[in-house]
Amino acid sequence: MGLLTPREILKNDLFSKGTHILEIGCGNGEFLLHLHQARPYAIIWGLDISNFALKKAFSRTKDRANIFLVKSDGKWFLQWLVPPKTLKEVYLLFPDPWPGNEKKRMVNQNFIKLLSERLEIGGRFTFATDVRDYYEKTRELFESSGFFRITEGIESFYTKYERKWKSLRRETYSLTAELVKAPKNIETFGVFLEHPVEVSISVETIKNLAGLELRWGDIFFKIIDVYEKTGREFLFKTVFRFRDMGQKQLFILKDGKIDLLPVQLEIYPEPLLDAIKLVFT
Ligand SMILES: C[S@@+](CC[C@H](N)C(=O)[O-])C[C@H]1O[C@@H](n2cnc3c(N)ncnc32)[C@H](O)[C@@H]1O
Repeated sequence: MGLLTPREILKNDLFSKGTHILEIGCGNGEFLLHLHQARPYAIIWGLDISNFALKKAFSRTKDRANIFLVKSDGKWFLQWLVPPKTLKEVYLLFPDPWPGNEKKRMVNQNFIKLLSERLEIGGRFTFATDVRDYYEKTRELFESSGFFRITEGIESFYTKYERKWKSLRRETYSLTAELVKAPKNIETFGVFLEHPVEVSISVETIKNLAGLELRWGDIFFKIIDVYEKTGREFLFKTVFRFRDMGQKQLFILKDGKIDLLPVQLEIYPEPLLDAIKLVFT
C-alpha cells in the first residue's frame, strides 16, 4: 500500500475495522512480508523512524495492499494513533539496545502500559534481542505487570539482524507475552487534525516567546524559535514531550489564531492543545 502519514491514518479512521498486526522498527521490511504471507487476511503495520529503512521496506512491500508503513516512533504511534483494544499482535525484533543509555530503550513501564491498553484480550507481543540483559528486564516487566502471561518465543524471525547475530554465533533470546487481563481504566485523550486557538496575548509578548519552557505532570513543551513572517503572522518551532515520547511541531499564528502548520501533516494530541492554550490565551 505504501507510506502513510499519522494524519492520513486519523482522517481515514484506518483502525475502525479489520485485524491489525504491528511491527515496531521494521527495518528493511522482510518480516512484514513474512507476516503478510502467514496472515493474508490481516492489515500489517510497519513502523520505523529511519527514512533509509522505510525506503527499503517500501520497495519490498509496495505491491501488497495490506501492508502500511508509517514513519513514527513506536510509543508515539501506540499512544496517539491506535485505539484501545485494537491490536492482535505486536512485534519488536532486535530493537536498539542503547548500551549505557538504557532509559532510551523501547520496552519500559510505559510501553507495557500502552501495550496492555492497545492489544485486544488474547493479543500477543513478541520480542527478540541478542542482548541478554534487555531480554531479562523485558521478561521481568511483563511478569510483574499482572496483565500478561509469558508464552514460548518463536524459533526464527528471518530478519536481517537475526541473520547477522546468528552468523556471528551470538545467542539470541525471544519471548511472547499474551494479554490475559485488560486494565480497568484505559486512559484516553482526544487527538485532532486542527484546532485553531484564539490568541489573546500581545504581539510584543509573542516576539519574546522563543526559549519558553513549560513543564507540568507528564508534559514538557518548549518554544524553540519564533519567526516573524509579516507584521501579524508568526511561525513557531516547538518541541512537545509526553512521558518518554517527544515530537517537534510547527505552528502558525495568522488572523489572531494559532494552529498546526497545514503543510506539516502532523497531529495534535490533547495535552499539546492544553499547552498551546496555556501559552497563547
Ligand atoms: C537493529 S534494527 C532491527 C531491524 C529489524 N527489526 C531486524 O530485525 O532486522 C532496529 C530498527 O528500529 C528502528 N527504530 C529505532 N528506534 C525506533 C523507534 N523509537 N520507533 C520505531 N523504530 C525505531 C531503527 O531505525 C532500525 O530500523
